[in-house]
Amino acid sequence: MSLISHLSALVGATFADLGLDPSLGAVVPSNRPELAQFQCNGAMAAAKAVGRPPREIAEDVARALDMATDLKSVDVAGPGFINLTLTDEALAAWAQSMADADRLGVDPVEEPLTVVVDYAGPNVAKAMHVGHLRATIIGDSLARLFDFVGHKVIRDPHFGDWGLQMGLVIAELERRHPDWPYFDPDFTGPYPEESPVTLDDLQEIYPVASARAKEDAEFAEAARRATVELQRKRPGYLALWQHMRAVSMEDQRANFSDLGVDFDIWHGESDVADMLEPLVERLRESGVAEESEGALIVRVDEPGDKKEIPPLILVNRAGGYLYSTTDVATIWYRSEQLGADLALYVVDARQADHFTQVFRAARRASVAGNMQMEHIAFGTMNGPDGKPFKTREGGVVSLRDLIEMVEKAAMARLDEAQIATDYPPEERQRIAHQVGIAALKFGDLHANRTSDYVFDLDRFSSFEGKTGPYLQYAAVRIRSLLRKAQERDLAEGAVLPPQVEAERNLVLELLKFPEAVWRAVDTRCPHHLAEYAYGLAGVFNRFYDACHVLSEPDADRQASWLTLCRLTLDTLVRSLYLLGIEVPERM
Ligand code: ARG
Repeated sequence: MSLISHLSALVGATFADLGLDPSLGAVVPSNRPELAQFQCNGAMAAAKAVGRPPREIAEDVARALDMATDLKSVDVAGPGFINLTLTDEALAAWAQSMADADRLGVDPVEEPLTVVVDYAGPNVAKAMHVGHLRATIIGDSLARLFDFVGHKVIRDPHFGDWGLQMGLVIAELERRHPDWPYFDPDFTGPYPEESPVTLDDLQEIYPVASARAKEDAEFAEAARRATVELQRKRPGYLALWQHMRAVSMEDQRANFSDLGVDFDIWHGESDVADMLEPLVERLRESGVAEESEGALIVRVDEPGDKKEIPPLILVNRAGGYLYSTTDVATIWYRSEQLGADLALYVVDARQADHFTQVFRAARRASVAGNMQMEHIAFGTMNGPDGKPFKTREGGVVSLRDLIEMVEKAAMARLDEAQIATDYPPEERQRIAHQVGIAALKFGDLHANRTSDYVFDLDRFSSFEGKTGPYLQYAAVRIRSLLRKAQERDLAEGAVLPPQVEAERNLVLELLKFPEAVWRAVDTRCPHHLAEYAYGLAGVFNRFYDACHVLSEPDADRQASWLTLCRLTLDTLVRSLYLLGIEVPERM
């Protein structure tokens, strides 16, 4: 149990003794640290419920709490705040138990859920854009957080590989190479083993095809037809599609691996291809789906809607399945085949209406079972001009280029700060990679998920301020301090009751780690943890200024401080890990 949940339970029991709701006992860190370490605001809410002055209730609670041995002081302030401060002995005992625990005081959930995290969402044949980058970074962090608190997490990128973009590329290839066997309906195979298209081809073709479809109605029609025929698994198209999917996937795997991101099932829209027809049949039979202007739709508007939610199109006029259709089928799959209890869709806020339609349609179709679904929306990563981040030429930035860019910036920072100057070149390169990725990810994650933010590489890559590199450096410095201690045969020892303010503050800050994790999990907002890590690094710096660990003459005190340093390192490294950020061994 964490210190704060322990205190909440203690105060809650006191409220219960007075015949009040124990949840009123919730304790939080004090708003006024100069007065107390923690506070409970429950008396104000209780007052409304029982019609007694809040101060009276607070005083009753405080009187009962006075017996608690862990508390140094219990006071009532203002209209009825209950202020609590722990004894230094109690703080030391809590820090010791955190140091002894293997999960830094975060208890695993009692009832683990199976949670699908749907994130990244790149499209086969289309270049990834910054929306996919944010989805990747935020989704990866949420997956790590849910896993850490004990849920069973299934990471799934949900590749876009079964929609119109595939038909567009196939139609364009058919236009350019009508002689290829893939387009000959009489060809009986086998098709070539080697892909006729490279990654560069794919990247060139999609924008051309998409532009052509806008100008040329006949071509657009051909693309729609190709999509439908692919979905009906016309052998030549399917063979070509497999090549394209493989080429694109290989590239994406490499990109994700550079970002330190991995998935448990590498699924895409096409993985539910065989469920589409049964889904449509089921919806048709149950009357949930209806014909409308030659298409098959599901109405999803609801009485209280503040704006119009148009029907979901299940099958279009050409007989093709859409992005929404595969999404509804995937819900069916996740609920039924994966047994998921919760699915988190980490996708751009601009798709909010899409998910409203899809979730409602899935409910109407009764394919979601008991699975809860949430759209974890996020804002846009903008360039300095306030518009969605682009290259200087105005194109979408490929992930590959972006990674190169952050690595270069990190290398320049290492040079400038004269960090790791005498390391072997490969190690330096690896550090630059880790620092660059940290700049990118922390820059993203420290912003509130739902806001837009400006990608400011100069600021994000700095070793000063609220940045990933600053936190990495803070962790590495503690690591090197512990290394020096080891070289001098100094061992970590029992945590002693803190004597000075900076030491006490460090202990208090460490003990808030579980709440930071839970807040990030409960709100699905990793920035709470990013904020915590930054705060912890600052509190540690003040501790280190005040407490000269390596030169401390009192051996017991020194050993206690070394334990606090170790605990800070573990907590920082764990926090960064949960944000998807690695800490270099040294730098
Ligand atoms: N491929 C989609 C896109 O690029 C994102 C997929 C998100 N996940 C989902 N289940 N729809 O917009």
